[in-house]
Amino acid sequence: MTAQLIDGKAIAQQVREEVAAEVGRRAAAGKRQPVLATVLVGDRPDSVSYVTSKGKACQELGMGSVSRHLPGDATQADLEAAVRALNADPAVSGILVQLPLPAHLDEERVLSLINIEKDVDGFSPVNIGRLAQKGREPLFVPCTPYGCIYLLEQVGVKIEGANAVVLGRSNIVGMPAALLLIGRNATVTVCHSRTRDLPAVCRQADILVAAIGRTEMVRGDWIKPGAAVIDVGINSVPDATRKSGHRLVGDVNFDEAKEVAGWITPVPGGVGPMTIAMLMRNTLRAAQMQDPA
Ligand code: GUN
Repeated sequence: MTAQLIDGKAIAQQVREEVAAEVGRRAAAGKRQPVLATVLVGDRPDSVSYVTSKGKACQELGMGSVSRHLPGDATQADLEAAVRALNADPAVSGILVQLPLPAHLDEERVLSLINIEKDVDGFSPVNIGRLAQKGREPLFVPCTPYGCIYLLEQVGVKIEGANAVVLGRSNIVGMPAALLLIGRNATVTVCHSRTRDLPAVCRQADILVAAIGRTEMVRGDWIKPGAAVIDVGINSVPDATRKSGHRLVGDVNFDEAKEVAGWITPVPGGVGPMTIAMLMRNTLRAAQMQDPA
């Protein structure tokens, strides 16, 4: 193995400890604890599991959490009423509407309703719009892309002037990751299913962010020697040797890539733990802005 492993689990733990310490300081100073509200519609097992983990993280860091669980057939009006009530509740610091929503609901309208000062996911049009514009700062940056950039910065990868390639253009990861890299003066190429000669484009990348949701699609010979590889993929594959019958792998073929890359995130234990850590950071920041020390 030539690549340096980027230990997302350890870096996320460090972020969580910093957040917990600041939450403790605020409590000692008589400030209200930060509170994260999650809104879940329906029972998708992955979404239920993410929302549960977010509530658990709040508890571990001394923050409060409330969860609103609406049935899968909830109406747009039901969902909007839930968000409006959380906007109006002064005890709630941050609001997260778990995505994806069931298809009959209008995601854009719901996200645009969230008070931008409580938009700890950074998905409201105002926050994303500011992220996309020069000289403007969003109040909150989407948690997974924020985690990717944080990992690069922590291990000392130079972003300014680098050729960065982002595989995937999703609203949740690919597009905001590209915007963050542009904001840090990288030269960014965003690839998608219609990109011609993907391996050749990837081979130009000093920084490669893979967020395409395809099991081990990125092969070792797609990677420029010494590149930093950030694997956002979380794909479940059958594995009879595991008790669970499956294991998680990324969008990058790790065994091949680690022989070529300069830095690489593992799956699991790379980007995954960073998402919740950055959400906790954003929720603390929301509380700090609403009730400054
Ligand atoms: N679904 C997958 N990732 C995310 C995320 O970061 N935030 C929300 N709200 N939903 C998601």
